[in-house]
Amino acid sequence: MIIIPLGPPGSGKGTQSKKLMAECGWPQLSTGDIFRVAISNKTTLGLKAKEFMDKGELVPDDVVIGVIKDRITQSDCDEGSILDGFPRTLIQAKALDKMLSELNRSIDKVVLFEINQDELVSRLSGRRVCKDCGAMFHLVAAPPKKSGTCDHCGGNLIQRKDDQADVILNRLKVYENQTAPVAAYYGEKSKLQKVDASQSPDDVYKTFKELIGFHK
Ligand code: AP5
Repeated sequence: MIIIPLGPPGSGKGTQSKKLMAECGWPQLSTGDIFRVAISNKTTLGLKAKEFMDKGELVPDDVVIGVIKDRITQSDCDEGSILDGFPRTLIQAKALDKMLSELNRSIDKVVLFEINQDELVSRLSGRRVCKDCGAMFHLVAAPPKKSGTCDHCGGNLIQRKDDQADVILNRLKVYENQTAPVAAYYGEKSKLQKVDASQSPDDVYKTFKELIGFHK
């Protein structure tokens, strides 16, 4: 199974991908997470990605396509994978089709997470992430037990640089201009399903699983 959760920043793609990965075992290939690890390790890829991510712009297509090509051909993706944050442009979507057809594989389901802009801004500006284990919190919707401290490992909670107000607005604009056409592309191929992402995480997950036909 190759599943693509698609949607604007803050719509819950990461939250839902992690839930699905925990239940079905298919790895979550999050391009955002791959870049954030590269940034913290100060690799060449990380330095390149940081230039774009800090401003809320997309990392160039050739860089992202190379990253996914390397990752999706690893053996832990043989049974399936969850592509969280890729593709984000039409060029990436077409490159993915080509890549998968060379591997005799294809996309099974694309699920669009629909939600209004005010809710996205509030989710992103309130998001806090553990610096050590990556666990995610929200100041209002999912606050940590002790302010600023991760419930799971005791690490410090930080705000992502791209979750600052001005960068959030740019990310939403970039989504409309460059990623919304990807949803239309999959719609034309009859691969697209939609979920109301403003519901609670558990309710979104229930529908997400129904849409991809995963039952356990
Ligand atoms: P990336 O890390 O992929 O960020 P994003 O797509 O902007 O998505 P987010 O992680 O912000 O949100 P999400 O939809 O996963 O929501 P989440 O579950 O975290 O990309 C970052 C950057 O990397 C890009 O801007 C770009 O520069 C670069 N990049 C990555 N991929 C690229 C590509 N393919 N091409 C080019 N550049 C690329 O939830 C958000 C918050 O809401 C959390 O606090 C959570 O607790 C809360 N929440 C989630 N669900 C609910 C719910 N149902 N109810 C209430 N609160 C909820």
